[in-house]
Amino acid sequence: MKPVLQVTGLRKSFGGVVAVDGVSFEVHEGEILGIIGPNGCGKSTLFNCILGQLVPSAGDIRLDGVDVTGSTPEAMNRRGVSRTFQLLQVFPELSVRENLILAGQEHRGTMLARLFGPGDAGLTAEADRMIGFFRLSHLADAKAGSLSYGQQKLLDAAMAFMAGPRLVLLDEPAGGVNLTMLADLKERLRAMNAERGATFVVIEHNMDFVMSLCSRVIVMVEGKVLMTGTPAQVRSDPAVLEAYLGN
Ligand SMILES: Nc1ncnc2c1ncn2[C@@H]1O[C@H](COP(=O)(O)OP(=O)(O)OP(=O)(O)O)[C@@H](O)[C@H]1O
Ligand SMILES: [Mg+2]
Repeated sequence: MKPVLQVTGLRKSFGGVVAVDGVSFEVHEGEILGIIGPNGCGKSTLFNCILGQLVPSAGDIRLDGVDVTGSTPEAMNRRGVSRTFQLLQVFPELSVRENLILAGQEHRGTMLARLFGPGDAGLTAEADRMIGFFRLSHLADAKAGSLSYGQQKLLDAAMAFMAGPRLVLLDEPAGGVNLTMLADLKERLRAMNAERGATFVVIEHNMDFVMSLCSRVIVMVEGKVLMTGTPAQVRSDPAVLEAYLGN
């Protein structure tokens, strides 16, 4: 299988704290890869380094074989790589549609001033396709801030997919989402993968969510990769149980 993303020997330290300590892994074309691990083990920092929010202390990141280490988030967006953040990043005063258009513009690196201008480069149409895909049609014109938390998380995920989607990194998409919305979210992410060929990496603490969504799971502990395997392998690994699931 062709790797979309290759991370090699990635390291990030903050003063004396080594948050990511020599992490290597590949993401294959069309896969849904999970990342689990205890609080503070470096998962979000890893995403920050990949997307260019942080400059890694060492190691390299390749996208389709091209070295993109140290690229800006804007440059990564233009290459079709985007992410969601652990804390919601929707604009509460803007409508669902406007949030999606804005996300699309950020990904393409066009100017904010064009948001409501005539030449929206097909973004309104794409936003409406995404609204339909994520089943938010009845809320298209509602202010994002008026949506339930779960609906906002769904919108947040949809915004990340406005980039293309080539590769999307989701940081705790299920966090704080109720059971009904969770099933919805999982089903939509699966469809995004199956119908649109989106490749994604999902950080999650919700084990059932990760294990049922992902084909492969990376377990991180204290900045390092403890193991990588199928959900079944990860679930039954004694080291994982001891380091993570058992605590
Ligand atoms: N900007 C920063 N400055 C200093 N230390 C940081 C910074 N960002 C993260 N850290 C530290 O790096 C370590 C890893 O944090 P990170 O947020 O990556 O963990 P995480 O695995 O995402 O945790 P969680 O599951 O709680 O979201 C922690 O010790 C954290 O305090
Ligand atoms: Mg985190």
